[in-house]
Amino acid sequence: MLDITNRYGKTLSAAGTRPSDAPAWIDTIDNPYLHGLYAPVTQEHSAGELKVDGKLPEDLNGAYFRNGPNSRLAPINRYHWFDGDGMVHGLWFENGTARYGNRYVNTRGFAQEQKTDAAIWGGVLGPFDFKLPGGPLKDTANTDLISLDGRLYALWYESGKLYPLNPQTLETLDSDALSAAMPHRISAHSKVDPNTGEFVFFGYGDRAPYMRYGVLKPDGTLHTTDITLPGPRRPHDIGVTPRYSILHDFPVFFDPEFFKKTGKRIPLFHKDVPTRYGVIPRFGTDADVRWFEFEPCYMLHVVNCWEEGDEVVMIGCRNPDPSLSPNKADGKLAAMLSGIKLRANLHEWRMNLVTGETSERALDDVNAEFPMIAPHVMGHKNRFAYLHAIPHEIPATFDALLKVDIHTGKTQRYDYGPGVYGSEAPFAARPGATEEDDGYVMSFVTDTRDWSSRCLVFDAQHISEGPVATVHIPFRVPAGFHATWMDASEWA
Ligand SMILES: [Fe+2]
Repeated sequence: MLDITNRYGKTLSAAGTRPSDAPAWIDTIDNPYLHGLYAPVTQEHSAGELKVDGKLPEDLNGAYFRNGPNSRLAPINRYHWFDGDGMVHGLWFENGTARYGNRYVNTRGFAQEQKTDAAIWGGVLGPFDFKLPGGPLKDTANTDLISLDGRLYALWYESGKLYPLNPQTLETLDSDALSAAMPHRISAHSKVDPNTGEFVFFGYGDRAPYMRYGVLKPDGTLHTTDITLPGPRRPHDIGVTPRYSILHDFPVFFDPEFFKKTGKRIPLFHKDVPTRYGVIPRFGTDADVRWFEFEPCYMLHVVNCWEEGDEVVMIGCRNPDPSLSPNKADGKLAAMLSGIKLRANLHEWRMNLVTGETSERALDDVNAEFPMIAPHVMGHKNRFAYLHAIPHEIPATFDALLKVDIHTGKTQRYDYGPGVYGSEAPFAARPGATEEDDGYVMSFVTDTRDWSSRCLVFDAQHISEGPVATVHIPFRVPAGFHATWMDASEWA
């Protein structure tokens, strides 16, 4: 077995052995994002009547779904954590009981590689082969999940197809009318307005138009517009209020000429270029976008946005310095490891639509990311964000769940304990709730000391008191990306 020699690999493989449910081929690859907490699982499972410590709330009815990368095959070039095939882990709650299941997202690329039983596409670290069907990167649909019109869809951060999933079984469905109607590739953090049911989406790419924006109304009416940008950009999220959307243009981009020559995309932080946010009316066009400039930075995830007087306000997890800072000790993986570091603090940006004035300020100094809010407050001024604390010594691991009052900074914290790491934690409102935080928050956790996994269910008003119920999952849940809650009423 390979000795994982780099420092992150050692930390993430705390048990000292490869999990027994991981594929044997990982032993030949020195890359921490294929080992330990990140090691893919090889099997799809379904399990009911799960053991529960504490008491599952009887009024928690629906499902917690979490997406993430889970490579089925050994990579053909240098692996990046973002490359793995999409796999969704689901925990269904019904009248105080829980069942579990996990399934690959059966994307076109995944199905093609099933036939060959060997990887065809390389990953984001390149070099890129533009002759491959569908492009040089495989749309893995491994990033986020949205619930739209009673359906569950898996999406990809690089902008791809909407992959419909059966919310009861997680089986990938044939392309449905809605996904077939989408004319463009859709980025993972496109959003559904909970009040109107409108799907506000964006996509981006390496070739002009570098960004597209649009809205799909519940009656099927589609509005789209190409957005003018100075070059290829890497926007990861979008802000949405009832009347506006906020487009992102960060000074983190690659050199198109170098990309053309080498087939490698190396995103660099341009400290002399401002961050720009473009406010566009929900059904506006490129000509309607008003761009506002701010201090250079990067942001993966928006917490929430709202309208306040003449201002549009955006709260997000701001990375003040997304420069690559490779550590020589990490050898040939140094650049990749440096790029995956999650460094962010809560931040507020304000844009005055009448005067054009802007302001921004840090809201705290806690290193935290993967924010969630109560879905029904999206686009409206709210108080609470549920995030994960990220230890500085290990990139991209979540060692504590946080509930932050974004107006007072008051924070509740629950530490998972030594060697235990969590997953993005969505909020499920209690039926009939009137308070923003009257509901539940849940997180898959995995213990790297024995590879056991659980789902912790918290009363959202009392996070620091620990979970009200712990569901034992008989299979390992590796680290992953984004999650969602789908209420049972949505698929009824
Ligand atoms: Fe994301």
